[in-house]
Amino acid sequence: MNNSIQDNTLLFCDDNHPKSLPSKNVNFNVPFTIRLRSSQNLFSSDFGVLEDLFERSNETLPKVQAWIDSGVLKFSPEKVESIDNLLTNSSSIDYRGFHTTPGGENSKMNNQIIEEMWTSFNYDDLDRRSYVLAIGGGAALDSVGYAAALAHRGIRIIRVPATTLSQADSGVGVKNAINHFGKKNWLGSFSVPWGVINDYGILESLSDRDFHCGFSEALKVFLLKSPEKFSWLCAHAFDINKRNPAICKEAITQSVLFHLDHITKGGDPFESETARPLDFGHWSAHKLEPLSKYEIRHGEAVAIGVALDCIYSSKVHGLATDYCHKAIKCLADMGLPTFHPLMRNTDVILMGLEEFRQHLGGILTVTLIESPGHPINVHSISQKIMRDSINELESLSQELGSSL
Ligand SMILES: NC(=O)c1ccc[n+]([C@@H]2O[C@H](COP(=O)([O-])OP(=O)(O)OC[C@H]3O[C@@H](n4cnc5c(N)ncnc54)[C@H](O)[C@@H]3O)[C@@H](O)[C@H]2O)c1
Ligand SMILES: [Zn+2]
Repeated sequence: MNNSIQDNTLLFCDDNHPKSLPSKNVNFNVPFTIRLRSSQNLFSSDFGVLEDLFERSNETLPKVQAWIDSGVLKFSPEKVESIDNLLTNSSSIDYRGFHTTPGGENSKMNNQIIEEMWTSFNYDDLDRRSYVLAIGGGAALDSVGYAAALAHRGIRIIRVPATTLSQADSGVGVKNAINHFGKKNWLGSFSVPWGVINDYGILESLSDRDFHCGFSEALKVFLLKSPEKFSWLCAHAFDINKRNPAICKEAITQSVLFHLDHITKGGDPFESETARPLDFGHWSAHKLEPLSKYEIRHGEAVAIGVALDCIYSSKVHGLATDYCHKAIKCLADMGLPTFHPLMRNTDVILMGLEEFRQHLGGILTVTLIESPGHPINVHSISQKIMRDSINELESLSQELGSSL
């Protein structure tokens, strides 16, 4: 036997027991699959799209437990009744019924609802080959996803995003979280959803306010990825505002594909680097949301945050003023706010920069844009220029009538 220590080689004595453990850095890859589907009537004629996602194991039927956003139950009760019947009658699964989770940020505010989910998972003996079916907005998907990710170190989750924002962005995300210590998303995990189904029919029951919210994330990702899509969205901002189905569907579809592409091909799905490009405009948004006691929706806070970072980008990083104003007008035309009086608390808002850095550790890295399709990562922000940017955003928003 060769006694020299070689990389990736354990040393064995004659009796095949390890003699010593050399220091090793062993890289390994784990293949993940996200099954993205779409439908128009998942809750009735397109139910097969969901049914096809359940995989049988060892000839036993997989257990399925559903968690439904209370907003979906309240505003689409007939859809909930219908899918409950379809799941009950499906011969592909062992359906264990549905539970409701509070809609919106209430779903993420404490551990109590997570405990309730774990109790139900345990009661129904869900295992790693069972499915938790989460139907709801981004907040409900976050809390159900968090509970499912921790139980048994991960129960398969199928998400049916029920808001424009969750269809355009978070549904295909690999993160879940609840709020803690008064901070957004402080508790959470990375976990890859088994499947995601964007059902366009479910969006019909959204209020205009919640309907418009998703398009701030679409504008965000178009600004990062594609000048053409950015212009296209600006040209159709009023169609989005009026909920034109074809245009809205196209915007959501393109947005989710950009997000999916970034997660699966961007090289850093679990955010081990310091840059988080998909969080463009989010450092102030994540501060504004708790500051408003979550009165301001995530999508609204992102609209304000993107508008602010466009102004800062134009002052410091060469973003043409025309593009900057076009982006802000686009948000306003889509029916989104671009300012809120709480933004005047500049000292508190600017603390969001340190919280943003601290969330990941390492050096501060904020993604800004030089031009549509050309993001840059910067490691320092001038507080003076950011304060000026907030003032400028307030004036501009008053002119546009887009201040909350
Ligand atoms: N994990 C991620 O990667 C990620 C990414 C982006 C956003 N998020 C999180 O998502 C949350 C925001 O999600 P959101 O914008 O989808 O809003 P939301 O989940 O807060 O829901 C907004 C409201 O819409 C209601 N609702 C949901 N679906 C409905 C429907 N079909 N009909 C009628 N009402 C309905 C809800 O009950 C709630 O009252 C934030 O907590 C944000 O942090 C997570
Ligand atoms: Zn977001």
